[in-house]
Amino acid sequence: MPSRSAPTTAHLAALAETYGTPLWVYDLRVVDTALATVRAAIPDATLAFAVKANASGAVLRHLAIRGVGAEAITIGELARSLRAGIDPARVVVGGPAQDEALRALAREARVARVSLDSRSQWRDWCDEPDGWPQGTLAFVRVNPGLDPRTHEHMAVGKADSKFGLTPDEALALAREVASSGALAGFHVHAGSQLTDPSVHEGVLATLAPLYDALPQARELDLGGGFALPGYPLERLGALTDAWVRPRGLRLWLEPGRALVAAAGTLLTRVLHVKEGPRRHLIADAGMADLVRPALYGAEHPIHPVTVAGRVVGDDEALEALDVPTDVDGPLCENADRLGRDVRLPALASGDLLAVGLAGAYGLGMGSHYASHTHAAEVVIDAHGAAHLARRRQPLDALWADEVDAEAERTPA
Ligand SMILES: Cc1ncc(COP(=O)(O)O)c(C=O)c1O
Repeated sequence: MPSRSAPTTAHLAALAETYGTPLWVYDLRVVDTALATVRAAIPDATLAFAVKANASGAVLRHLAIRGVGAEAITIGELARSLRAGIDPARVVVGGPAQDEALRALAREARVARVSLDSRSQWRDWCDEPDGWPQGTLAFVRVNPGLDPRTHEHMAVGKADSKFGLTPDEALALAREVASSGALAGFHVHAGSQLTDPSVHEGVLATLAPLYDALPQARELDLGGGFALPGYPLERLGALTDAWVRPRGLRLWLEPGRALVAAAGTLLTRVLHVKEGPRRHLIADAGMADLVRPALYGAEHPIHPVTVAGRVVGDDEALEALDVPTDVDGPLCENADRLGRDVRLPALASGDLLAVGLAGAYGLGMGSHYASHTHAAEVVIDAHGAAHLARRRQPLDALWADEVDAEAERTPA
């Protein structure tokens, strides 16, 4: 079995003891390594972290201090980013909706960029009493109409997806935006979990005639989508360098997963072991915590932290049982599963598992399905010390927002 990365198994076991399970653990040292990797590969890019990947206040504050901006698509994401201290000068507001509430906060905060996903969004902004926000520039999002070779749900750059405008429509809208002096340039997010930079070559080939036609477009936002592990960022660096520099463009990127996925571990405890031709480990975390396996068929590395109650060594070689093993969640759905055919040794009830590469699209995509409450979050700081970043959700959070219907039941 491959060995795991930081934090150590002993540390994880201690955290589970202190805070219980399921538990999210984000190692901020790993975020720093990821950020350094992205910055080294593409030094000139302004980074706007895609907040949807991990909206934990502790993570956002950490990125804010390091000068990272935010890509926000809801008022909630924008409010969280600002609250965490992210500089509005590095904020891109985007998304297919951009409702009135989001527009109002974006206007008040004077965000640097808005990515327009449709012509009617442009009208919505301009039709407000104050018109287009002073000091904010617009990207026009282009649908490149290519196959980004990723899971269907994440292939947002395909022609039939709801995102962006066709190149012709985008050019027409960009001309209009430019005539009012508000154009930054074009934006493409081709998809997520991309492994092949030739997708971005295709994107740039689509964009070239647009930039040729519109010299007022001085910036390019290439979105995010870099698979981790798997996307060769240095190749993107070389590609963008060769493209952006001669044109004198400012480059923006919106990495989500690449900055936070490796930093996150979901700690879960095995509640029951069901032997048979297929072994089922019923864990206390599942699709309501980490939906990626159910939604995308995503495969996360799963490693034992304890075996029969004993904390395993970080580099200890463990012999996996020769039985197909599923790590299943606690809810009543076949899709409630963290891993299929996982290679694991003989585990007992009470053993702990670490689900790796879980720092992106974890709790943020979590749900209250089956009245499951959200797990706690812990961050590990630069000195290796752990801090509680979010309390385990109490049971009464499930009904806290319900309106008491007692009056309806009382006969008149
Ligand atoms: C517009 C936009 N930018 C950036 C991202 C971040 O993608 P990833 O986490 O794959 O880098 C997304 C993800 O959905 C997105 O929609």
